[in-house]
Amino acid sequence: MSSSSEIKKVTTRKIQELKEKGEKITALTAYDFLIARLCDRAGIDIILVGDSVGNVFQGNQTTLPVTLDEMIYHTKAVQRGVKRAMIVVDMPFMSYQTNIDEAFRNAGKIMKETDAGAVKIEGGEIYAETVAKLTANGIPVMGHIGLTPQSIHRFGSYQPRGKEEEEAKQLIRDAKALEEAGAFAIVIEKVPASLAKHITESVKIPTIGIGAGKFVDGQILVVYDMLGLTEDFNPRFVRKYLHLSQLIFDAFQKYIEDIKSSNFPSEKESY
Ligand code: KIV
Repeated sequence: MSSSSEIKKVTTRKIQELKEKGEKITALTAYDFLIARLCDRAGIDIILVGDSVGNVFQGNQTTLPVTLDEMIYHTKAVQRGVKRAMIVVDMPFMSYQTNIDEAFRNAGKIMKETDAGAVKIEGGEIYAETVAKLTANGIPVMGHIGLTPQSIHRFGSYQPRGKEEEEAKQLIRDAKALEEAGAFAIVIEKVPASLAKHITESVKIPTIGIGAGKFVDGQILVVYDMLGLTEDFNPRFVRKYLHLSQLIFDAFQKYIEDIKSSNFPSEKESY
């Protein structure tokens, strides 16, 4: 067993090495201390403080309402549970879209106020200059292409992206532009597996898929989805490793029953 002082934090270099060795990169989202600590102890490489917090934690329909301060708040909770994993923080809607200086200021605020190792930006070619500015100033950036939930009102649905040739070609250009601009990795969300494979073979930086098939360098899922907490969300790309909502519901019902029947607390549970 190594002591916590010997644990080496996962860095962008380590993520690149995993790709080069052909070893898959593992990633999950987290928004709180306890889940982040479990992810980290289990050996997850990247913990994304995703703006999916807006959906699965706050209960919004989209990720658009999430604020920069909320992302920083959740990252501070996550970081207290993490010794090894690289923490990546989503830049929320309207924290980088207006102009490069604002993106730089907001990414800098995340890096200054949290223990994050990188930020994530949704979009490709059109944010290349922003990505270049951030990386040149020491802020690692993860790109995110394909289905980018902050653009849901433009897409009009959560259907897979890149099925038409023109959009597929644009996604390849986006990936290359992100690499050129200095991004250290790219999330590819909900595109055909063959396209994700093509993108992965077209760039030297790692690709992390979600609903993008197996021919990518790593996988990410929203933690509450894979734990089976988001019971009404069942897209084919989510493998449920647990059915936690049922377990929690059963526990709550048993608790109610035990109180009503004076079965809780027992003598042993009393002082
Ligand atoms: O916000 C998020 O959780 C994400 C992942 C789905 C990649 O961006």
